[in-house]
Amino acid sequence: MEVERIHLDVIDSTNTYAKEHASEFDPKKITLITADIQTGGRGRFPNRSWISKRGNLHMSLVLSISPNPNLAQVLALSALEVVKLPIQIKWPNDLIFEDKKLAGVLVETTSTGAILGMGMNVNTPIETDQKTISLKELSGKPWDLNQLSLAIAKQFVRNADRDFGELPFEEHLAYKNEFITCDTGRGKIEGLLLGIGPDGHLQVEVDGKIQSIYSGDISHLRML
Ligand code: BTN
Repeated sequence: MEVERIHLDVIDSTNTYAKEHASEFDPKKITLITADIQTGGRGRFPNRSWISKRGNLHMSLVLSISPNPNLAQVLALSALEVVKLPIQIKWPNDLIFEDKKLAGVLVETTSTGAILGMGMNVNTPIETDQKTISLKELSGKPWDLNQLSLAIAKQFVRNADRDFGELPFEEHLAYKNEFITCDTGRGKIEGLLLGIGPDGHLQVEVDGKIQSIYSGDISHLRML
């Protein structure tokens, strides 16, 4: 599927722009919206903003297909495959290096499909209460944001055509065989992270039983 780009200098949020304009885009293409700066970048949790400085990646993909719960995970994997650095996926869809956050994905649905937004710290270091890292710090060189966003969008198109269970998501999973706690929004689950099921759910061993978790926020506790 062809990717068509719309670039904006400054916008509140590429996801919000994508939602407001979704019906105007060609449903036979994937629209990639990028912005140099976001003044109201939004994070995955309602009370979290995404600090969006010039030099970093702010992109949204507008999809006219029925939203599949794994698409955000597929986008995270696609970005990891493009940058080719030893980063990992913190389930469900953060990219991290040694507990420091590089990128995150915010998925939202529209009446016509889904919006997948990704923010990545690329050339400009970010200071927040979370530990963060940038691609430039990891690779020692600056990155071209136009090339990077297009390469991620194209890799996403290739991966989205495959069954989720066939993708090498688990190979890049952080904290595998380590103890984690997962805040599911309905309580916390503490156990050994075994891996990912073919449906993208997190498999955690708790008191000898396997629990399959479909959404949540994980924190690392300790090695086995
Ligand atoms: C997270 O909390 O980890 C998800 C962050 C997602 C940020 C991106 S930046 C582009 C798009 N527009 C937004 O307002 N948010 C997403």
